[in-house]
Amino acid sequence: MEKVTVRAASSLRGAVTVPGDKSISHRALILSSQARGESRISGLSQGEDVRDTARALRALGVPSGRWGDEPYTLSGMGPGGWKEPSDVLDFGNSGTGVRLMAGMLAAHPFFSVLSGDRYLRRRPMRRIVDPLKLMGASIEGRQKGNFLPLAVAGGELQGISCRTPVASAQIKSAIILAGLLGRGTTEVTEPAPSRDHTERMLRYLGVELEEEGRTVRLRGGQEWEAKDILVPGDPSSAAFLLAAALVIPGSEVTVRGVCVNGTRTGFFDILGEMGADISFAGRREVCGEPVADITARSCSLKGVSVPPSLVPRAIDEFPILAAIALFAEGETVISGAEELRVKESDRIRTMASELGRIGGRVKEREGGLVIAGGDRLTTASCGSHGDHRVAMALAVAGCAVRGGLTVEDTTCVKTSFPTFWQTLEGLGGKVDHGRSVPDGRDGQA
Ligand code: S3P
Repeated sequence: MEKVTVRAASSLRGAVTVPGDKSISHRALILSSQARGESRISGLSQGEDVRDTARALRALGVPSGRWGDEPYTLSGMGPGGWKEPSDVLDFGNSGTGVRLMAGMLAAHPFFSVLSGDRYLRRRPMRRIVDPLKLMGASIEGRQKGNFLPLAVAGGELQGISCRTPVASAQIKSAIILAGLLGRGTTEVTEPAPSRDHTERMLRYLGVELEEEGRTVRLRGGQEWEAKDILVPGDPSSAAFLLAAALVIPGSEVTVRGVCVNGTRTGFFDILGEMGADISFAGRREVCGEPVADITARSCSLKGVSVPPSLVPRAIDEFPILAAIALFAEGETVISGAEELRVKESDRIRTMASELGRIGGRVKEREGGLVIAGGDRLTTASCGSHGDHRVAMALAVAGCAVRGGLTVEDTTCVKTSFPTFWQTLEGLGGKVDHGRSVPDGRDGQA
């Protein structure tokens, strides 16, 4: 099993870019595969999650260039144009890939089986299966359709009007994409706004859709022409490097070309509340998404109470928030974040247990965490639980703990940020592959 030891860095300095946004990359591939004509996608995430979606599309008959080509090219087959796959579609670790693709597969008149790795097979699917069934889809899966593998016998779908039980872009997008290939109008209303990349990309591609408050409405049967797409940097990957700069004295890190869509910037708002020295420059728009260069400088942080209303806008950043809250003065309280329990790991449990190993006082609550800042931290070996964001959050904590920290099982980092370790080293981080920290040494930085 791969492991990495991160030792206390003296400072992190420099300007870098991060991989293309994972959410936007999935949508770029999926929507281009059903466009009319050839698309060139630049800046596509090279993470395994996105590669698994690209593989699934190839298995559905979509002609495409070589993985790793820049730009990545693929020939659209028109709406509803995918072909029956001859084998199980394996989505690896990717909830976004499997849920969005399930929405579209439900509208294709053929049989498909969707599965994934042992972590993805534990994540709930009824949240998309139920609305897709209401639209007329025939889908079976383990435990009454709640777990992969899912078997989809696709066919003609009818638009619905529905309310999602939680703010989730994956649920919303699965329904919108199914509705796009179905008959009539589909309308989805969310309890709170989730990320809106599907809506933005559809509009960029010329698909008509209406947004009214927390409701999205679109007419099925629309067609769209292929367009070149440039994917901006992933704010959820940039978050690790910027957070590291905040807690390592003497640091200044700029991440260029980051997507700053307001449905994704909750973490930066929380950092602002914590007193972080963080600034945005060069605001521009790329393919319907706002982009900026973000700079973070080391400073002292204070604990905060994160209001539940902010949770959907920061949903992927709670592992890194929990890690840096250890270095803040006072308590950080996260609540209303039950959704964290059904991510790549149960992120409430995994962050409480792993930060506890280095001496962090972190209390687990049903819907969140209470993290005491300013403690003496010790060097230790921690586990990723197969979760890329847990692994990277622990690595950032390791940069600021004297004696460092070992992260066990780091292969998962490749799902979203395959160049994470090199980027961290390039900024001045001290990274040892395959070695462990000596146990039990006092590691307070
Ligand atoms: C994503 C939506 C979020 C997020 C995930 C990516 C997307 O999940 O956690 O990493 O691309 O739509 P939910 O929509 O289930 O909250």
